Amino acid sequence: MNIVLENRKKKDDEIEIILLKNTEKLPSKTQKILDKINFKNSKFNTYFEISSKKIFVYMKNKDRESIKIAISKAVNTLKKYTCFYIDIKSLNKELRIEDLVQGFVLGSYKFLKYKKKEKKEKTLCINIKNTKEQTKDLQKRLQDSLSLCQSVNFVRDIVNTPAQDFYPKTMANEALEIAKKKNMSCSIYGEDYMQENSLNAIYAVGRASRHESQLIHLSYKACNPTGMRTKNPKAKIVLVGKGVTYDTGGLSLKRGDGMVSMKCDKAGAISILGVMKYLSQSNLDIEVHAILGAVENMIGSNACKPDDVIKIGNKTVEITNTDAEGRLVLADCLVYAQKNINNIDYILDLATLTGSSIGAFGGYTSAVLGHSEKLKNKISKASKRSGELVGFLPFNIYMQDILKSGVADILNSSANKNGAAIIGSMFLDNFIEKKYKKKWLHFDIAGPSYRKVNWGYNPYGATGAGVRLVVEFLKDISVKNQ
Ligand code: BES
Ligand code: ZN
Ligand code: ZN
Repeated sequence: MNIVLENRKKKDDEIEIILLKNTEKLPSKTQKILDKINFKNSKFNTYFEISSKKIFVYMKNKDRESIKIAISKAVNTLKKYTCFYIDIKSLNKELRIEDLVQGFVLGSYKFLKYKKKEKKEKTLCINIKNTKEQTKDLQKRLQDSLSLCQSVNFVRDIVNTPAQDFYPKTMANEALEIAKKKNMSCSIYGEDYMQENSLNAIYAVGRASRHESQLIHLSYKACNPTGMRTKNPKAKIVLVGKGVTYDTGGLSLKRGDGMVSMKCDKAGAISILGVMKYLSQSNLDIEVHAILGAVENMIGSNACKPDDVIKIGNKTVEITNTDAEGRLVLADCLVYAQKNINNIDYILDLATLTGSSIGAFGGYTSAVLGHSEKLKNKISKASKRSGELVGFLPFNIYMQDILKSGVADILNSSANKNGAAIIGSMFLDNFIEKKYKKKWLHFDIAGPSYRKVNWGYNPYGATGAGVRLVVEFLKDISVKNQ
């Protein structure tokens, strides 16, 4: 994907994208055709005028998300074409370069790893003739948006990759690859370390897999231009990710239909890898630790069983459902983070934790839970800036008893699935130290991270949900003093 800023007219082989609202004056011939085909009847209608090589996209609203969807619609309508052109002023001052880049790069993504078809590189020329903005500033914003979108597509590629080709060690290798940049560092821990250091939950969940479980600790520390670590970064953030490379449900085995797509169960960890990849190319003045629990939840003679009791941190957990494995993995990662990293300002965990979060919000929205209204407010703002949807679910004192166990300190899952998204995060709350309660948020991304439909500028399958949201949050805190 290539995007260039130029000050020139459209070339003959380029398709010009024209985003139409209600008021534009068009050549009468074009106008007549658009009237005839009822072009303005529904949002994102397209009309391709082959003689002039122009594609018109109707936009009812000119908000930022609509611009991204419209660009994506244009590119996907003309799949065979590779060269596109747009005038930065084609939609008055609302048009931001970031939205053009997201619409184009995210909208034209295809997962072709297992198809005969080859990826066609597409280019977009943005004509900057009529803008007052400095080319240097635009160029900087273009590079930043490209880096963000490439990180989103990197996440999509991995989450779409089946478990036969992507397992815990593959995830560790991806982290090590990102760690080659000088502002990054990485430690990988295997099952020996887990057994020696009481990371019993990750070990138990991954025990029946032929692939060794991995705990990945990847860090970003801001550097100044000479490559030296900056002294007082604005904040220290921990990002915890559920990296279940395949979720069969374990001995509480999923039924056939419910197991299909469970390659997506690593999406929390991989989205965080995407954020770290973006950070490695940025200079945000923060310190970020990614703690990823990479395991495969399988069946086998040594699998963890319902009724088993494991110790996580200083609490014992009675397993009632081996399919509620994500919360076990996350709990171990949260305990590891609070023990090994000091003075944390924010802890965010991302996970495809429950089908219930899809039931609650309908699949396009991440469910967010936590104790701090102030922090949720920051996330609401990041949601608006990024275009990723979030919804908040409440904790509930009456539900606390649901996880009471007769033999251990708590159960890992309730008897029925009512309110499972809330119960799952209340389980995690047990592993957040008092001093961090208001610094922690849980994101259940089961819905938006993987969908079996195209939506907006998201393709079938993995979407990279969480990357843009978290990056917007990080950008915000990296400019503000705490
Ligand atoms: N990985 C699933 C959650 C999931 C469901 C992700 C659908 C993506 C799409 C998780 O491990 C799981 O199985 N959760 C159970 C929890 C239950 C046993 C309390 C669920 O949602 O049914
Ligand atoms: Zn599960
Ligand atoms: Zn799972």
